[in-house]
Amino acid sequence: MRRIAVMNQKGGVGKTTSSVNLAAALAQQGRKVCLVDLDPQGHSSLHLGVEPHSDEPSVYDVFSGTRSLKDVRHLVSENLWIIPASLDLAATEVELVDAQNREIVLRQAMEKMMQEQPVDYIVMDCPPSLGVLTVNALTAADEVFIPLQPHFFALQGLSKLLETTALITRRLNRNLKVSGIMLCLYETGTRLAADVTDDLISFLRQSPPDTPWANAQVFNSRIRRNIKLAEAPSFGQSIFEYQPKSAGALDYGALATEVLAMEKANAGVDSDISTTFQMPQATPQPQQPPGEQRFAA
Ligand SMILES: Nc1ncnc2c1ncn2[C@@H]1O[C@H](COP(=O)(O)OP(=O)(O)OP(=O)(O)O)[C@@H](O)[C@H]1O
Ligand SMILES: [Mg+2]
Repeated sequence: MRRIAVMNQKGGVGKTTSSVNLAAALAQQGRKVCLVDLDPQGHSSLHLGVEPHSDEPSVYDVFSGTRSLKDVRHLVSENLWIIPASLDLAATEVELVDAQNREIVLRQAMEKMMQEQPVDYIVMDCPPSLGVLTVNALTAADEVFIPLQPHFFALQGLSKLLETTALITRRLNRNLKVSGIMLCLYETGTRLAADVTDDLISFLRQSPPDTPWANAQVFNSRIRRNIKLAEAPSFGQSIFEYQPKSAGALDYGALATEVLAMEKANAGVDSDISTTFQMPQATPQPQQPPGEQRFAA
Protein backbone atom coordinates (compact mmCIF):
# COMPACT_ATOMS: atom_id res chain seq x y z
CA MET A 1 0.00 0.00 0.00
CA ARG A 2 1.28 3.44 -0.92
CA ARG A 3 0.25 6.70 0.65
CA ILE A 4 1.07 9.65 -1.56
CA ALA A 5 0.67 13.32 -0.65
CA VAL A 6 0.45 15.59 -3.68
CA MET A 7 1.88 18.77 -2.27
CA ASN A 8 3.04 22.20 -3.28
CA GLN A 9 2.22 25.33 -1.32
CA LYS A 10 2.08 27.27 -4.55
CA GLY A 11 -1.41 27.62 -5.98
CA GLY A 12 -2.54 26.50 -9.40
CA VAL A 13 0.37 24.20 -10.24
CA GLY A 14 -1.68 21.08 -10.95
CA LYS A 15 -2.08 19.41 -7.53
CA THR A 16 -5.76 18.69 -7.96
CA THR A 17 -5.62 17.84 -11.65
CA SER A 18 -2.77 15.43 -10.96
CA SER A 19 -4.31 13.90 -7.82
CA VAL A 20 -7.61 13.20 -9.55
CA ASN A 21 -6.27 11.92 -12.85
CA LEU A 22 -3.42 9.91 -11.36
CA ALA A 23 -5.87 8.32 -8.92
CA ALA A 24 -8.28 7.57 -11.78
CA ALA A 25 -5.49 6.12 -13.94
CA LEU A 26 -4.28 3.85 -11.13
CA ALA A 27 -7.86 2.70 -10.53
CA GLN A 28 -8.25 1.96 -14.23
CA GLN A 29 -5.12 -0.14 -14.08
CA GLY A 30 -6.71 -2.31 -11.41
CA ARG A 31 -5.51 -0.76 -8.18
CA LYS A 32 -7.94 0.11 -5.40
CA VAL A 33 -7.48 3.84 -4.86
CA CYS A 34 -8.80 6.26 -2.29
CA LEU A 35 -8.42 9.95 -3.07
CA VAL A 36 -8.50 12.22 -0.03
CA ASP A 37 -9.51 15.81 -0.69
CA LEU A 38 -7.71 17.92 1.91
CA ASP A 39 -8.47 21.28 0.36
CA PRO A 40 -11.42 23.26 1.78
CA GLN A 41 -12.02 24.42 -1.80
CA GLY A 42 -13.19 20.85 -2.47
CA HIS A 43 -11.84 20.85 -6.02
CA SER A 44 -10.99 17.15 -6.15
CA SER A 45 -14.48 16.32 -4.90
CA LEU A 46 -16.08 18.54 -7.55
CA HIS A 47 -13.78 17.15 -10.21
CA LEU A 48 -15.19 13.70 -9.55
CA GLY A 49 -18.77 14.92 -9.39
CA VAL A 50 -19.18 14.99 -5.63
CA GLU A 51 -20.70 18.31 -4.54
CA PRO A 52 -19.23 19.16 -1.19
CA HIS A 53 -22.00 20.43 1.11
CA SER A 54 -21.31 21.22 4.72
CA ASP A 55 -24.29 19.15 5.92
CA GLU A 56 -22.94 15.98 4.28
CA PRO A 57 -20.24 13.78 5.76
CA SER A 58 -16.76 14.85 4.70
CA VAL A 59 -13.16 14.76 5.80
CA TYR A 60 -14.00 17.59 8.20
CA ASP A 61 -15.93 15.06 10.32
CA VAL A 62 -12.85 12.87 10.42
CA PHE A 63 -10.72 15.72 11.74
CA SER A 64 -13.36 16.63 14.28
CA GLY A 65 -13.44 13.00 15.42
CA THR A 66 -17.11 12.32 14.72
CA ARG A 67 -16.75 9.92 11.77
CA SER A 68 -14.28 7.46 10.33
CA LEU A 69 -12.82 7.67 6.82
CA LYS A 70 -14.73 4.54 5.92
CA ASP A 71 -18.00 6.30 6.78
CA VAL A 72 -17.34 9.31 4.58
CA ARG A 73 -15.85 7.72 1.51
CA HIS A 74 -17.81 7.59 -1.75
CA LEU A 75 -17.28 5.09 -4.51
CA VAL A 76 -17.15 7.21 -7.68
CA SER A 77 -16.12 4.58 -10.22
CA GLU A 78 -14.70 1.09 -10.27
CA ASN A 79 -11.82 0.87 -7.75
CA LEU A 80 -11.93 4.61 -7.00
CA TRP A 81 -13.21 6.23 -3.81
CA ILE A 82 -13.14 9.84 -2.76
CA ILE A 83 -13.14 11.30 0.71
CA PRO A 84 -14.76 14.67 -0.01
CA ALA A 85 -13.94 18.04 1.48
CA SER A 86 -16.15 21.04 1.94
CA LEU A 87 -15.60 24.62 2.98
CA ASP A 88 -15.97 23.86 6.68
CA LEU A 89 -12.64 22.04 6.47
CA ALA A 90 -11.10 25.53 6.67
CA ALA A 91 -12.19 25.58 10.33
CA THR A 92 -10.04 22.53 11.02
CA GLU A 93 -6.90 24.67 10.88
CA VAL A 94 -8.24 26.68 13.82
CA GLU A 95 -10.01 23.91 15.69
CA LEU A 96 -6.96 21.68 15.82
CA VAL A 97 -4.60 24.37 17.08
CA ASP A 98 -4.78 23.25 20.68
CA ALA A 99 -5.57 19.60 20.08
CA GLN A 100 -3.13 17.01 21.30
CA ASN A 101 -1.55 14.97 18.52
CA ARG A 102 -3.11 17.30 15.98
CA GLU A 103 -0.56 16.30 13.35
CA ILE A 104 -1.49 12.62 13.39
CA VAL A 105 -5.29 12.71 13.22
CA LEU A 106 -5.37 11.69 9.57
CA ARG A 107 -2.67 9.08 10.00
CA GLN A 108 -4.61 7.37 12.76
CA ALA A 109 -7.86 7.53 10.79
CA MET A 110 -6.10 6.02 7.80
CA GLU A 111 -4.67 3.16 9.79
CA LYS A 112 -8.16 2.34 10.99
CA MET A 113 -9.54 2.41 7.43
CA MET A 114 -6.72 0.18 6.24
CA GLN A 115 -7.69 -2.43 8.79
CA GLU A 116 -11.38 -2.29 7.91
CA GLN A 117 -11.40 -1.66 4.15
CA PRO A 118 -7.91 -1.64 2.69
CA VAL A 119 -6.91 -0.03 -0.59
CA ASP A 120 -3.70 -0.17 -2.63
CA TYR A 121 -3.19 3.57 -2.97
CA ILE A 122 -4.16 6.61 -0.95
CA VAL A 123 -3.65 9.85 -2.85
CA MET A 124 -3.96 13.08 -0.86
CA ASP A 125 -4.68 16.36 -2.62
CA CYS A 126 -3.20 19.05 -0.35
CA PRO A 127 -4.29 22.67 -0.14
CA PRO A 128 -1.92 25.40 -1.34
CA SER A 129 -0.53 26.11 2.12
CA LEU A 130 1.70 24.51 4.71
CA GLY A 131 -0.84 24.50 7.54
CA VAL A 132 -2.12 21.71 9.74
CA LEU A 133 -3.98 19.94 6.91
CA THR A 134 -0.82 19.63 4.83
CA VAL A 135 1.16 18.57 7.92
CA ASN A 136 -1.46 15.85 8.51
CA ALA A 137 -1.05 14.68 4.92
CA LEU A 138 2.74 14.56 5.25
CA THR A 139 2.51 12.69 8.53
CA ALA A 140 0.09 10.19 7.02
CA ALA A 141 2.07 9.73 3.79
CA ASP A 142 5.05 7.63 2.86
CA GLU A 143 5.69 9.57 -0.30
CA VAL A 144 5.38 13.11 -1.54
CA PHE A 145 4.76 13.89 -5.18
CA ILE A 146 5.44 17.49 -6.07
CA PRO A 147 3.72 18.97 -9.10
CA LEU A 148 5.83 21.72 -10.60
CA GLN A 149 5.28 24.03 -13.46
CA PRO A 150 8.73 24.32 -14.97
CA HIS A 151 9.40 28.01 -14.87
CA PHE A 152 11.42 30.25 -12.62
CA PHE A 153 8.73 31.21 -10.12
CA ALA A 154 7.58 27.64 -9.63
CA LEU A 155 11.05 26.62 -8.58
CA GLN A 156 11.42 29.52 -6.17
CA GLY A 157 9.21 27.85 -3.57
CA LEU A 158 10.88 24.48 -3.85
CA SER A 159 13.35 25.11 -1.06
CA LYS A 160 10.56 25.90 1.42
CA LEU A 161 8.75 22.79 0.35
CA LEU A 162 11.78 20.59 0.78
CA GLU A 163 12.57 22.15 4.16
CA THR A 164 9.04 21.34 5.28
CA THR A 165 9.42 17.74 4.19
CA ALA A 166 12.74 17.49 6.04
CA LEU A 167 11.14 18.89 9.17
CA ILE A 168 8.31 16.37 9.07
CA THR A 169 10.83 13.61 8.45
CA ARG A 170 12.78 14.64 11.55
CA ARG A 171 9.87 15.21 13.86
CA LEU A 172 6.91 13.10 12.82
CA ASN A 173 7.40 10.60 10.06
CA ARG A 174 10.85 9.26 9.42
CA ASN A 175 9.74 7.23 6.41
CA LEU A 176 8.57 10.23 4.43
CA LYS A 177 10.32 10.64 1.11
CA VAL A 178 9.88 12.97 -1.80
CA SER A 179 9.67 10.28 -4.42
CA GLY A 180 8.37 12.03 -7.51
CA ILE A 181 8.32 15.38 -9.23
CA MET A 182 5.57 15.79 -11.79
CA LEU A 183 6.14 18.41 -14.44
CA CYS A 184 2.71 19.89 -15.10
CA LEU A 185 1.34 22.46 -17.51
CA TYR A 186 4.41 21.64 -19.54
CA GLU A 187 5.06 23.82 -22.57
CA THR A 188 6.67 21.42 -25.01
CA GLY A 189 9.24 22.94 -27.28
CA THR A 190 10.10 25.86 -25.04
CA ARG A 191 13.68 26.44 -24.04
CA LEU A 192 12.77 27.58 -20.54
CA ALA A 193 10.86 24.40 -19.66
CA ALA A 194 13.74 22.24 -20.89
CA ASP A 195 16.37 24.33 -19.04
CA VAL A 196 14.49 24.38 -15.77
CA THR A 197 13.90 20.64 -16.02
CA ASP A 198 17.64 20.03 -16.56
CA ASP A 199 18.48 22.21 -13.55
CA LEU A 200 16.00 20.32 -11.43
CA ILE A 201 17.39 16.93 -12.43
CA SER A 202 20.98 17.96 -11.73
CA PHE A 203 19.98 19.49 -8.38
CA LEU A 204 18.39 16.20 -7.32
CA ARG A 205 21.40 14.20 -8.50
CA GLN A 206 23.68 16.32 -6.33
CA SER A 207 21.53 16.08 -3.20
CA PRO A 208 23.18 14.45 -0.20
CA PRO A 209 21.89 10.91 0.33
CA ASP A 210 20.39 11.72 3.74
CA THR A 211 17.90 14.25 2.44
CA PRO A 212 14.32 13.02 2.03
CA TRP A 213 14.40 14.03 -1.63
CA ALA A 214 17.72 12.36 -2.49
CA ASN A 215 16.03 9.61 -4.50
CA ALA A 216 13.24 11.67 -5.98
CA GLN A 217 12.68 11.00 -9.63
CA VAL A 218 11.49 13.55 -12.11
CA PHE A 219 8.87 11.57 -13.95
CA ASN A 220 9.60 11.17 -17.63
CA SER A 221 5.97 11.73 -18.45
CA ARG A 222 5.52 15.45 -18.81
CA ILE A 223 1.95 16.61 -18.32
CA ARG A 224 1.43 18.89 -21.26
CA ARG A 225 -0.89 21.85 -21.16
CA ASN A 226 -4.12 20.45 -22.55
CA ILE A 227 -7.46 22.23 -22.49
CA LYS A 228 -9.36 18.96 -22.02
CA LEU A 229 -7.78 18.64 -18.57
CA ALA A 230 -9.17 22.05 -17.66
CA GLU A 231 -12.62 21.19 -19.03
CA ALA A 232 -13.04 17.79 -17.37
CA PRO A 233 -13.84 19.10 -13.83
CA SER A 234 -16.91 20.97 -15.04
CA PHE A 235 -18.34 17.61 -16.17
CA GLY A 236 -17.51 15.98 -12.84
CA GLN A 237 -15.30 13.49 -14.65
CA SER A 238 -11.69 12.40 -14.74
CA ILE A 239 -9.93 12.90 -18.05
CA PHE A 240 -10.35 9.18 -18.77
CA GLU A 241 -14.11 9.47 -18.66
CA TYR A 242 -14.27 12.87 -20.33
CA GLN A 243 -11.74 12.54 -23.18
CA PRO A 244 -9.90 9.23 -23.03
CA LYS A 245 -8.02 9.93 -26.26
CA SER A 246 -6.79 13.40 -25.35
CA ALA A 247 -3.16 14.32 -24.73
CA GLY A 248 -4.09 14.81 -21.08
CA ALA A 249 -5.33 11.22 -20.78
CA LEU A 250 -2.21 9.93 -22.53
CA ASP A 251 0.07 11.91 -20.22
CA TYR A 252 -1.62 10.86 -16.98
CA GLY A 253 -1.86 7.27 -18.22
CA ALA A 254 1.89 7.27 -18.87
CA LEU A 255 2.54 8.86 -15.48
CA ALA A 256 0.50 6.13 -13.78
CA THR A 257 2.57 3.49 -15.56
CA GLU A 258 5.73 5.07 -14.11
CA VAL A 259 4.15 5.24 -10.67
CA LEU A 260 3.19 1.57 -10.86
CA ALA A 261 6.74 0.69 -11.91
CA MET A 262 7.99 2.15 -8.61
CA GLU A 263 6.03 -0.46 -6.65
CA LYS A 264 8.85 -2.99 -6.69
CA ALA A 265 11.40 -0.48 -5.45
CA ASN A 266 9.07 0.48 -2.63
CA ALA A 267 8.28 -3.07 -1.60
CA GLY A 268 9.41 -3.91 1.89
CA VAL A 269 9.53 -0.35 3.25
CA ASP A 270 7.60 -0.42 6.49
CA SER A 271 5.77 2.68 7.46
CA ASP A 272 6.33 4.04 10.91
CA ILE A 273 5.39 7.06 12.89
CA SER A 274 6.95 8.68 15.86
CA THR A 275 6.23 11.95 17.55
CA THR A 276 9.47 11.71 19.47
CA PHE A 277 11.79 10.60 16.74
CA GLN A 278 15.00 12.64 16.58
CA MET A 279 17.72 12.46 13.99
CA PRO A 280 20.99 11.43 15.66
CA GLN A 281 22.69 14.52 14.28
CA ALA A 282 21.67 17.83 12.82
CA THR A 283 20.02 17.36 9.46
CA PRO A 284 21.74 19.30 6.71
CA GLN A 285 19.87 22.31 5.44
CA PRO A 286 18.25 21.79 2.07
CA GLN A 287 20.41 22.79 -0.81
CA GLN A 288 19.59 25.93 -2.64
CA PRO A 289 16.98 24.91 -5.18
CA PRO A 290 17.78 24.99 -8.84
CA GLY A 291 15.71 28.05 -9.63
CA GLU A 292 17.63 30.11 -7.13
CA GLN A 293 21.00 28.81 -8.30
CA ARG A 294 20.15 29.53 -11.82
CA PHE A 295 18.64 32.91 -11.41
CA ALA A 296 20.46 34.23 -8.38
CA ALA A 297 22.33 37.55 -8.56
N1 LIG B 1 -2.01 20.17 -17.92
C1 LIG B 1 -2.97 21.09 -17.87
N2 LIG B 1 -3.46 21.65 -19.00
C2 LIG B 1 -4.40 22.61 -18.94
N3 LIG B 1 -4.94 23.07 -17.82
C3 LIG B 1 -4.51 22.55 -16.66
C4 LIG B 1 -3.52 21.54 -16.62
N4 LIG B 1 -3.28 21.22 -15.32
C5 LIG B 1 -4.10 21.99 -14.60
N5 LIG B 1 -4.83 22.80 -15.39
C6 LIG B 1 -5.79 23.82 -14.96
O1 LIG B 1 -5.05 24.79 -14.22
C7 LIG B 1 -5.81 25.22 -13.09
C8 LIG B 1 -5.03 24.90 -11.83
O2 LIG B 1 -4.87 23.49 -11.74
P1 LIG B 1 -5.16 22.70 -10.39
O3 LIG B 1 -6.49 23.10 -9.82
O4 LIG B 1 -4.94 21.27 -10.65
O5 LIG B 1 -4.01 23.29 -9.50
P2 LIG B 1 -3.85 23.22 -7.92
O6 LIG B 1 -2.39 23.20 -7.66
O7 LIG B 1 -4.65 22.11 -7.36
O8 LIG B 1 -4.50 24.59 -7.48
P3 LIG B 1 -4.81 25.05 -5.96
O9 LIG B 1 -3.50 25.46 -5.41
O10 LIG B 1 -5.77 26.18 -6.11
O11 LIG B 1 -5.39 23.88 -5.25
C9 LIG B 1 -7.14 24.51 -13.17
O12 LIG B 1 -8.05 25.34 -13.82
C10 LIG B 1 -6.84 23.28 -14.03
O13 LIG B 1 -7.98 22.83 -14.74
MG1 LIG C 1 -6.08 22.12 -5.84
